[in-house]
Amino acid sequence: MTAAGGGAPWWRSAVIYQIYVRSFADADGDGLGDLQGVRARLEHVRDLGADAIWLNPFYPSPQADAGYDVADYRDVDPRFGTLADADAMIAEAHALGLRVIVDLVPNHTSDQHAWFQAALAAPPGSRERARYLFREGRGAAGDDPPNNWSSNFGGGAWTRVTEADGSPGQWYLHLFAPEQPDLDWTNPEVHEEFESILRFWLDRGVDGFRIDVAHGLAKDPGMPDLDADGGFAAGGPARPGHPHWDQDEVHEVYRAWRRLTDTYPGERTFVGEVWVATPAQLARYLRPDELHTAFNFGFLLARWDAGAMRVAIDDSIQELAKVGAPPTWVLSNHDVTRHVTRFGGGDVGLRRARAAALLMLALPGGAYVYQGEELGLPEVRDLPDELRQDPTFARTGGAQKGRDGCRVPIPWSGDAPSFGFGPDGAWLPQPADWAALTVDQQVGDPSSMLSLYREALRIRREHPALGDGTMTWLPSSPTVLAFRREPGFVGAVNLGTDPAPRPEATAGLPVLLASGPLPDDGTLPGDTAVWYDGRR
Ligand code: NOJ
Repeated sequence: MTAAGGGAPWWRSAVIYQIYVRSFADADGDGLGDLQGVRARLEHVRDLGADAIWLNPFYPSPQADAGYDVADYRDVDPRFGTLADADAMIAEAHALGLRVIVDLVPNHTSDQHAWFQAALAAPPGSRERARYLFREGRGAAGDDPPNNWSSNFGGGAWTRVTEADGSPGQWYLHLFAPEQPDLDWTNPEVHEEFESILRFWLDRGVDGFRIDVAHGLAKDPGMPDLDADGGFAAGGPARPGHPHWDQDEVHEVYRAWRRLTDTYPGERTFVGEVWVATPAQLARYLRPDELHTAFNFGFLLARWDAGAMRVAIDDSIQELAKVGAPPTWVLSNHDVTRHVTRFGGGDVGLRRARAAALLMLALPGGAYVYQGEELGLPEVRDLPDELRQDPTFARTGGAQKGRDGCRVPIPWSGDAPSFGFGPDGAWLPQPADWAALTVDQQVGDPSSMLSLYREALRIRREHPALGDGTMTWLPSSPTVLAFRREPGFVGAVNLGTDPAPRPEATAGLPVLLASGPLPDDGTLPGDTAVWYDGRR
């Protein structure tokens, strides 16, 4: 199967719908989403018009970081179902014309993984410890951590173990929670294990992998202190020279993986979660013999401002073109504040989110839609602290609220929680006013966010100019971004608050789709996007 209208591989223009399994649909009534729930709701994704789904981790896990602490990479957590459910889910998605991408977490395992348990039981210097990053502490008695690196979730990045004889022992590195020990990617055994895991899921029919923390696997072997003066803070996009992000050695890993997936039929694909500071750094992961695509966090982080968006768009397109990779576009995911809220919340946020969707879906390349954005869900800001599960909350002593607010379960139907999410409640409470945002409420309403996404994706599938390809900017007023794509498509979005003149190039063109009402006076209202039929 290739993209409509050409021989280009499907992943160059795919719209991929992110399913956050624990919050999508709950079939067994434990309040947590599961694979049977996913299976029951796949038609929603098909009807939306996406090409593929990406599922966040559903593997056996103590859930210290919502499944990003994997205890067994070749099974399904009983909370989410069974391997048979995963097989059925893959087959049913395929039957609906949806490809399936699963999450791969190679930077760290769970502390409950058999390898880490064996490492704890084995002495310093053993083969078991060599799969992780164990080091002696500093100071005469080794009481201080080996360096000053800190965890992405707050606190230090090293935890000390107690040796078998009861004495205080070595320290191990965890760039995330202590329950997520980092693997040592200089160890060939680690490479072999992950290639075997890739094969396990490829043989079960998955179409690709989303690679967690893809920029983090290799560490500077000297493990130097982070130099605050050099600007190498623990979090945030990594600048070149950082000792534990974006080290050159990661590229060899992806070259080997690419060689492996290329032996499989069916255009299997990788998407990297690569948090780096510049599109030029990102492009190095997308050289022809490495990953196929990566998330575009520059676009996600851009302010709702014509200048900022234009720079984010131009930089991505230009840098990725140098390596022949298609850009992708993303507005939200399970780690960031939902964009309705980021763009101002309320009616303003919704208007901007509608316009942003039309912008994103008209740009060259692929796009990611995070479950719930097609419903216009806002961030839930008032979750009770005692229900928060993101480790960030506890590890920062509540200073950072964490990511639970974008992970609240999806409202499907009905007028009271759990809004059809499951038969018996939801692991995080849904706001009562989500009754107006359920899929059932929106499906028959032509003015709803869901109808806008469906219509946009329908046009995108049918229009030969959309998806993979190129674009050219058209002259416009300062708050407006206008662009042309061949053959015969013009897009315009006004990121200002006030109405602006419509770009001259749109004069007389029929409207294909607009994110909001268009007045007859020739202006483009603020926070509004339009797709035009540019065939002349
Ligand atoms: C990125 C994932 O998206 C996030 O949810 C997770 O906490 C970290 N990686 C650590 O695995």
